[in-house]
Amino acid sequence: MSDRLTGRVVIVTGGARGLGRAYADRLTAAGATVCVVDVERGAPYEADVTSADAVDAVVAAVLDRHGRIDGLVNNAGGAMLPSAPFDSFSRAEWSRVVDVNLTGQWVCAAAVAPAMRAAGYGKIVNVSSTVVAKGGPVGLSPYIAAKAGVVGLTRALARELGPAGIRVNAIAPGYIPVDTPKAVHSPAAAAALEERVAAEQCLPLVGKPSDLAPVVEFLCSADSDFVTGQVLNVDGGWVHG
Ligand SMILES: NC(=O)c1ccc[n+]([C@@H]2O[C@H](COP(=O)([O-])OP(=O)(O)OC[C@H]3O[C@@H](n4cnc5c(N)ncnc54)[C@H](O)[C@@H]3O)[C@@H](O)[C@H]2O)c1
Repeated sequence: MSDRLTGRVVIVTGGARGLGRAYADRLTAAGATVCVVDVERGAPYEADVTSADAVDAVVAAVLDRHGRIDGLVNNAGGAMLPSAPFDSFSRAEWSRVVDVNLTGQWVCAAAVAPAMRAAGYGKIVNVSSTVVAKGGPVGLSPYIAAKAGVVGLTRALARELGPAGIRVNAIAPGYIPVDTPKAVHSPAAAAALEERVAAEQCLPLVGKPSDLAPVVEFLCSADSDFVTGQVLNVDGGWVHG
């Protein structure tokens, strides 16, 4: 395990479960002080990423306690709703999925930017998805639209914050099963999807959280300091399959 994040303070949103937890564990093992922000009750920093007030309070608490914020992993999110035809979602359902998956990443970036600007350095890692390139699985339109927005947000922030020394990249995970119960697919549909995705990838493997975490570590570390505005597919070659 590396020590390339020793002395760094990194916020991981949605870090209580699933992929975010794997990122938090990996960054901690690389020496970072990791501050987990999650809507889940009892999370170290309990907040909904769509609430600017709640996120600002978290950032103030992290700065008070640790004095710096070097990294932000904008991971909180998910498809949230059962898979359905695009015109069957209510306006409220559409907006909530976009709020959590896209607007929440903007809220968190805006909250950490002043501290990063003051330091002249920072690393923001947004989380998109391979579904953006695939346009599917069918039934996830609000989620796919939101994660496509993350690509635009990543490029816009990379350009706008680059002069301040802040690097902004995104990862686009493929289909990675996690323990969290999900509303999006029935267990049978999830198993079928897992099999189909593995068959479509260049690598006929089912991805694991530990396949993504080292990439997040890289994007949080000085090793990627000349990389910004990029979206890295970590998907076993699903996009190319
Ligand atoms: N698992 C996959 O196959 C996959 C693929 C591509 C992208 N992603 C993305 O990776 C991220 C993590 O996915 P996961 O599979 O680990 O999901 P998960 O459901 O296991 O974990 C998501 C975490 O985010 C938290 N969260 C949800 N809404 C929140 C909010 N409004 N404010 C704060 N915290 C909130 C949850 O409480 C949970 O701890 C998501 O952005 C997801 O869209 C996942």
